[in-house]
Amino acid sequence: MENQYIIKGGKPLFGEVTISGAKNAALGILAAAIMTDETVLIDNLPDVRDINVLLQAIEGIGATVDRVDRHAVKINGSTIGDVTIDYDSIRKIRASYYLLGALLGKYNKAQVALPGGCDIGSRPIDQHLKGFRALGATVNIEYGMINTYADELTGNHIFLDVVSVGATINIMLAACMAEGRTVIENAAKEPHIVDVANFLNSMGANIKGAGTDKIRIRGVEKLHASEYSIIPDQIEAGTFMVAAAATKGNVLIKNVIPKHLEAISGKLIEIGARVEEFDDAVRVSADERLHHSQIKTSPYPGFPTDMQPQFATLLALSEGTSTVTESIFENRFKYVDELSRMGAAIKVEGNVAIIEGVEHFTGAAVSAPDLRAGAALVVAALVADGISTVDSIHYIERGYESFESKISALGASMEKIPIDDERAANKFRLKVG
Ligand code: EPZ
Repeated sequence: MENQYIIKGGKPLFGEVTISGAKNAALGILAAAIMTDETVLIDNLPDVRDINVLLQAIEGIGATVDRVDRHAVKINGSTIGDVTIDYDSIRKIRASYYLLGALLGKYNKAQVALPGGCDIGSRPIDQHLKGFRALGATVNIEYGMINTYADELTGNHIFLDVVSVGATINIMLAACMAEGRTVIENAAKEPHIVDVANFLNSMGANIKGAGTDKIRIRGVEKLHASEYSIIPDQIEAGTFMVAAAATKGNVLIKNVIPKHLEAISGKLIEIGARVEEFDDAVRVSADERLHHSQIKTSPYPGFPTDMQPQFATLLALSEGTSTVTESIFENRFKYVDELSRMGAAIKVEGNVAIIEGVEHFTGAAVSAPDLRAGAALVVAALVADGISTVDSIHYIERGYESFESKISALGASMEKIPIDDERAANKFRLKVG
């Protein structure tokens, strides 16, 4: 049964919210967990669809998965009997391709269905495959499957042509048990890369330089058991920071690493919001109308592409003309048409959105085109006058745990109801008046 969010906008968000574990770190870490034959305990997992689907894929190849609770899992890779990840798994979650690097790194062979395109662009994986070949693996693609195998993986000096989070993680996985030394140049530096490297090192790997553009790996014979806690999700945190500013509220966002949020905090302060940093929390508030700005997405520590739709929504309500340049993906403005239905004045020319700030939005029925665009539409609905519905929320639930409960706990009128359930919608309308 498809659900939708129904939201009555216009209420500032007040209170505290606790951020869950980072989805994009957890996906790499769960794949890495199968590389040992001992039991690994991972906690602070976000309870979101992408994680649950990847755990199913891991169980599907025969690993033992014991879900301790919503946010913790024990994995043992000694029972793996198959190194083929079928198309069904990869269709559901692209990041199943991390199992390619993990299985190749552990068993010197792996087969994964080619991931399709995505809602935000073509998203090739040529750099992943270039890395595997550089380590001595044969990689060929036939019948929609990527087949990789190697007599032995040997370290090498690899230059990424594109700064790629996925390729950096996948090559780290394949190289951590290869013979000798591997260097990854032009590596991505996102916090989740560092988290995957730290996790691998906690299992006995020897990886240095994660978080810089040069990662040095010395292959080890075996990896062992580990207990590890995932870092907080930088993008979930950023989404709540934007929601607090957009609704002119005052929210304490807990369980964050402020350093990971610097690009977002800097931009919020630049446009007139207030951001206070604590050890593991940030407080965001705004009471005046915010100002225009220029955003250009770039790899970490630049402004994150995963925050582009949410921040564009904020700028669509700020005074003046702003521009948002999306330099990572080629099709990440699909939310603009939906936002225009709420009254936004945005024109997209190539990879630049030109935004004329408007005074307010009005509620509308909108549809989430992808994960972060969906989150942006929820932020817009929280500000819009009147009632909005957001459907296709399965996209949003891929990356946001208990999104409607976390937002309602901050004072918003927001519920998740079955789509086309007029009775539930009318009940909501009567309740919010
Ligand atoms: C990761 O995707 C994230 N997903 C994305 O978050 C995020 O937007 C992206 O990194 C950038 O930060 C996960 O971590 C699961 P890339 P990934 O490889 O690894 C090109 C979300 O909202 N490229 O860094 O696929 C690619 O086309 C998701 O949680 C190649 O050309 O991103 C893109 O233009 C959306 N060849 C650029 O590099 C390759 O082999 C960056 O992609 C790989 C990538």
